[in-house]
Amino acid sequence: MKTPNMINAKKRNVKAPEYISYDKKYSNFGKNKKYYVRTYGCQMNEHDSEKIKGMLETVGFTSCESVEEADIVILNTCAIRENAHDKVFGFLGVLKHIKDTTNPDLLIGVCGCMSQEAVVVKEILSKYKYVDFVCGTHNLDNLLSIIKNKIDTNKMQVEVESYEGDIVENIPVDRDSKYSAWVDIIYGCDKFCTYCIVPYTRGSQRSRKKEDILEEIKKLKEDGYKEVTLLGQNVNAYGKDLYDNYNLANLLKDVSDIGIDRIRFVTSHPWDFTDEMVDIIAERDNIMPYIHLPLQSGSNKILKLMNRRYTKEDYLKLYNSIREKVKNSSITTDIIVGFPGETEEDFEETLDVVNKCKFDGAFTFAFSKRENTPAALMKETVSEEEKLDRLHRLNEVVNKYSNMANKKMMGKTVKCLVTSLSDKDKNKVCGYTENMKLVNIKGDKSLIGKIVDVKITDTKSFSLDGEYVE
Ligand code: 5AD
Ligand code: SF4
Repeated sequence: MKTPNMINAKKRNVKAPEYISYDKKYSNFGKNKKYYVRTYGCQMNEHDSEKIKGMLETVGFTSCESVEEADIVILNTCAIRENAHDKVFGFLGVLKHIKDTTNPDLLIGVCGCMSQEAVVVKEILSKYKYVDFVCGTHNLDNLLSIIKNKIDTNKMQVEVESYEGDIVENIPVDRDSKYSAWVDIIYGCDKFCTYCIVPYTRGSQRSRKKEDILEEIKKLKEDGYKEVTLLGQNVNAYGKDLYDNYNLANLLKDVSDIGIDRIRFVTSHPWDFTDEMVDIIAERDNIMPYIHLPLQSGSNKILKLMNRRYTKEDYLKLYNSIREKVKNSSITTDIIVGFPGETEEDFEETLDVVNKCKFDGAFTFAFSKRENTPAALMKETVSEEEKLDRLHRLNEVVNKYSNMANKKMMGKTVKCLVTSLSDKDKNKVCGYTENMKLVNIKGDKSLIGKIVDVKITDTKSFSLDGEYVE
């Protein structure tokens, strides 16, 4: 058993990671068995779940639609806020019921960021003894051997490394989409924003080699993929740990040269965002004009307490430069309210930035205290009631601007990558514009997988309606 240690997780390895290739072989121990994977949290986790599924399939497991049919259920968890915890523990309760009643042989596993948290593993060991295995983020490539050990020994397996290990290339992956693919470019984060648990759960910043990334994208293009999204907690730091003279701007240029139709990237940190990067996004038609640029707060005092390394003025300068240079761009953001020490005046500074930027959309959060982060030691000064009140006031302003941004699209004919049938109406399909607006499209399912012209016929707060233009 190896349990997480948050103190070790904070340390940064001086040793550079090894780059190795996944070449594990197992017997077909999943034959005739079904898996169900539930994913919480960010796009990195979505992609990790594709790897979990890919690995399970190599030993014979097949997917199923519901937990009732499953032989193994894996929760790929998120630790970013307390409410993510509550959802996971709630779902574990549902699985316990299935194990107690209809399927005593059900295997239950916990992966992802929560498994890197000492308090969580302690809680599982004391109160959730029916969990069969816990696998950390740094040793996900060992998942199959952990499951096999559980089956062979019938003992709970807890294998969580607190030091990031090697970069493992070629982990089998079962992608959710045939048209749009996630591609990791950098793992971990070294920014240590004081509220954030990610630098502890995902370890130090480690870039994949550019050759491996470019090779993966060439192959995706050959396989018919239309879009790639480059992934990292802070993609703008790409290359810093690996190269003297090769950064995200260089990588974007090389990916663009491959000629895949659409390139996206998430998430950006304003501090590492250079003019060179803005210029390449502006220059290249296949780099999509959509940028997620977390603000977190508009108050310089709070930004400093958050250790964000930029001021309100720096943010606005970068924001305006992107808006000026990148045609038809759309910019979204993340904002936290109720950080320790945030006064009404600080909150108004945030509203001021929102009013100046008129974001296309924003994900807004109430500050949530995370174990072992520096902000957890700061005295909370904003009551839960006040946090909710600020969140509510912020959302009203944010929604006003996202509505306005959507309205600007009315009547325009824009390119959409059609990805699936519409959730809202099975007679429609849906897809995304270049600037990442969701459109429900009147059109036939034969459009799925294609980039087509769509005329926008109506706008809502969080989506658009449109018609296929032949
Ligand atoms: N409390 C509230 N929101 C948080 N985020 C990260 N950590 C916390 C926290 N402790 C938000 C940030 C980040 C987004 C992914 O989640 O806004 O950009
Ligand atoms: Fe967390 Fe800050 Fe790193 Fe983003 S940049 S993952 S908010 S520490």
